[in-house]
Amino acid sequence: MRITTIGRGSIGGTLARLWTAAGHQVTALGRDGGDASDADVVLLAVRHADIPAALAGVTGLEGKTVIETSNRLDGELPHDGHASNAEYVKATLGGPTAKVFNLNFGKLLEGAPQAPNRPDNIWVGDETARAAVEKLTRDAGMQPRHGGPLDRAATQESFAALFVAIVKDADSGLLYYRFATPEAI
Ligand SMILES: NC(=O)c1ccc[n+]([C@@H]2O[C@H](COP(=O)([O-])OP(=O)(O)OC[C@H]3O[C@@H](n4cnc5c(N)ncnc54)[C@H](OP(=O)(O)O)[C@@H]3O)[C@@H](O)[C@H]2O)c1
Repeated sequence: MRITTIGRGSIGGTLARLWTAAGHQVTALGRDGGDASDADVVLLAVRHADIPAALAGVTGLEGKTVIETSNRLDGELPHDGHASNAEYVKATLGGPTAKVFNLNFGKLLEGAPQAPNRPDNIWVGDETARAAVEKLTRDAGMQPRHGGPLDRAATQESFAALFVAIVKDADSGLLYYRFATPEAI
């Protein structure tokens, strides 16, 4: 796949490396912007406050399949009155959109392909984004878990606070998570 990543930090930089290693053609964009016309899939991996500027700085995004990763911290509200950042992105660009990779830690992504069992990666979003999300999740060493349509993105964004609280309470460092069948639990 031809993938354009917007944001070269913990999430964007790490996924760009993993997807390049998996054989994808990755173009990594940062604050200087660029063009995404030839991308099959776009990863948006910038902080909440930077999302509007990041979208405005890249041409050729309209109608693209977008994988959106942001979390909202400390009561930050989604942009332009939308229920979630992912729905703001969908309203702005109009293409297949998914909320994904916000419930995993950037520092743990690099280790996922070597983990003895695949960590899970919850996502919600458009069915038209499913093939890309699930392939790119697997190619990052994780197991996709679909939680429903894009109108659940606000729930997924809110769940990040709960996940962080679980991690702090466990007091054992950062965590992956996995769902299990009754036989495998
Ligand atoms: N880190 C995590 O563990 C984690 C986990 C789940 C979800 N998330 C979410 O994922 C998103 C990315 O997080 P991160 O940790 O990767 O952030 P980060 O390390 O701070 O990286 C953000 C990147 O966005 C770039 N950027 C800022 N403004 C931009 C613009 N206008 N156009 C293009 N790029 C721009 C920054 O460039 P500069 O380097 O030039 O500033 C930086 O490369 C955030 O919304 C975060 O909440 C993070």
